[in-house]
Amino acid sequence: MTAFLPAMREDELWAGEMRAITLAGRRVLLLRLQDRGVRAYVDRCAHLGLPLGDGAFAGSVLTCRHHCYKYDASTGCGLKPANAALVPLPVRVIAGEILVGLGPAQDTPQDVGEEHDA
Ligand code: FES
Repeated sequence: MTAFLPAMREDELWAGEMRAITLAGRRVLLLRLQDRGVRAYVDRCAHLGLPLGDGAFAGSVLTCRHHCYKYDASTGCGLKPANAALVPLPVRVIAGEILVGLGPAQDTPQDVGEEHDA
């Protein structure tokens, strides 16, 4: 079952910004698209599972700083390579608050491989 948890105020995330947060002990990457839509992904690169929050977000492209995998920020689909993909998380914006849906811990692969945390 998915529980929606408050992540941050909507006005704290501007168009073109991304923010890595920890929510209920799990790494979550929030992005605000240029059309003001909000996306949330498990903060884990499809390549080696390293965090994406210190990467680059330009236009609609999210780039992992470690080995430059590129993703479409609006879908999480890989651009380079095309067969990579991020794990999307459901998002709701209610009364100016961004809520992110998290399922049971075993549903999010970021909970495996915590050895990558600094
Ligand atoms: S860990 Fe992201 S490209 Fe290698």
